[in-house]
Amino acid sequence: MLGRNHAGCMSGGTNYFDSVGSIFSNKDLLRIETVPESDDRIIGRGDQLSELASELGSAIEGQKPNNVFIFGKPGVGKSMCAKFLGRQLVERGAANGVSIGVAYVDCMQNSSETQVVVRAGELVNDPDETDITFPSGGVSRSRLYDRLWNAFDQFYDVGVIILDEIDKLDSPNETLGTLSRAGESEKLSDCHLGVVGISNKARFENRLTSEVRSSLTQNELVFPPYNINELFNILKARRDAFNPDVLPSDARALDDIFATAAKFAAQEYGDARQAIDILRKTGEIAEREGADVLTTSHVERALDKAEEDKLVKMMQTQPVQSQYVMQSVALTTDDADPGEDVKSHDVYSKYEQITQYEDTNTLSWRRVRDLLDELEDLDVLDQRRKGAGKGKGTYRSIYLADSPETVLRACESVTDGG
Ligand SMILES: Nc1ncnc2c1ncn2[C@@H]1O[C@H](COP(=O)(O)OP(=O)(O)O)[C@@H](O)[C@H]1O
Ligand SMILES: [Mg+2]
Repeated sequence: MLGRNHAGCMSGGTNYFDSVGSIFSNKDLLRIETVPESDDRIIGRGDQLSELASELGSAIEGQKPNNVFIFGKPGVGKSMCAKFLGRQLVERGAANGVSIGVAYVDCMQNSSETQVVVRAGELVNDPDETDITFPSGGVSRSRLYDRLWNAFDQFYDVGVIILDEIDKLDSPNETLGTLSRAGESEKLSDCHLGVVGISNKARFENRLTSEVRSSLTQNELVFPPYNINELFNILKARRDAFNPDVLPSDARALDDIFATAAKFAAQEYGDARQAIDILRKTGEIAEREGADVLTTSHVERALDKAEEDKLVKMMQTQPVQSQYVMQSVALTTDDADPGEDVKSHDVYSKYEQITQYEDTNTLSWRRVRDLLDELEDLDVLDQRRKGAGKGKGTYRSIYLADSPETVLRACESVTDGG
């Protein structure tokens, strides 16, 4: 079937941009960094938003906001909610005649204490109006801190520093200690400062000294993972990322698309980032094919791609011999008849062939067995011990978690360096 946009070339020959742009009407809605304009796209985080708002709320009256510590697994809306409320806080403050400065610093990108201070400084400073600068070298850390306090004092009645991914900080106690106690230690003269620290790891708290803990983690907010219904609703609330005419007109077919993607993300623990990624990939696959309407088959292919990407990531961390073992299991599985056991000795013969072909050393069966056990621990395959028949001992039957095609494609992109 030809796609919707194969007619009407303007310049001669193939127009390579033809299929681009027909599926999405607002792809930004499916980008992870995008913070929704309005909270009707934010699903199931009403309690967390209200709690965070009440910790920060005194800012609107020109008073010091509380320090807050947020934690939860990746993809549960921590960054989004913090940025969303940061923006709302600035607006509500302005409406009240209070100028509030919010600096969002991603500690993944800025992991040293100096980088954090420089980044926050750049965000609150307006170099056209002050002679304060934040060079990344040549100025001592304590001077940089002084400049940061200065910038806050000059521009704002209240400041909020959102430190995201604080588990990535090189020296969390120093950085969080100085920032979260800036108010008490009278570093600032006019501005009142609060700190929101966000972590993906609950146990990160144990790495903090009791002083830092008492100033930062007094007010703790936990973001739980999403259930499948919440994931479904999160995706459905972003359906206008797509052109209306590429969405199935049948309501059930439409829901199936979001449900299929939500089910996948719910299997692990309920990560909205994964769910949104799948929906974006679904559209990209349909776009590449020049499809007229999105179907669950596009979602399924996006899921395969996501599985493959995950496998590639995992296999990149494995020794090359484990990769040969995975490849051997996949090839043996591919050769087996449907329902037939994939036997360990067949896998080992395949492994011998591959390593000979690759001109590399061939490990003993004992070592390969250990590698299979390690791969089983990583949940990429499963092994069952079976009797080969009376007096014939036992063998292992091996099952891949993913399809052999997916595993082979993953093996290929690992060896290609992808
Ligand atoms: N409750 C929600 N409603 C709508 N979208 C959400 C929700 N939670 C997360 N998202 C989306 O999922 C993605 C990941 O969320 P994010 O805030 O980055 O997670 P975290 O910071 O907890 O790792 C973002 O694109 C975000 O917009
Ligand atoms: Mg985040």
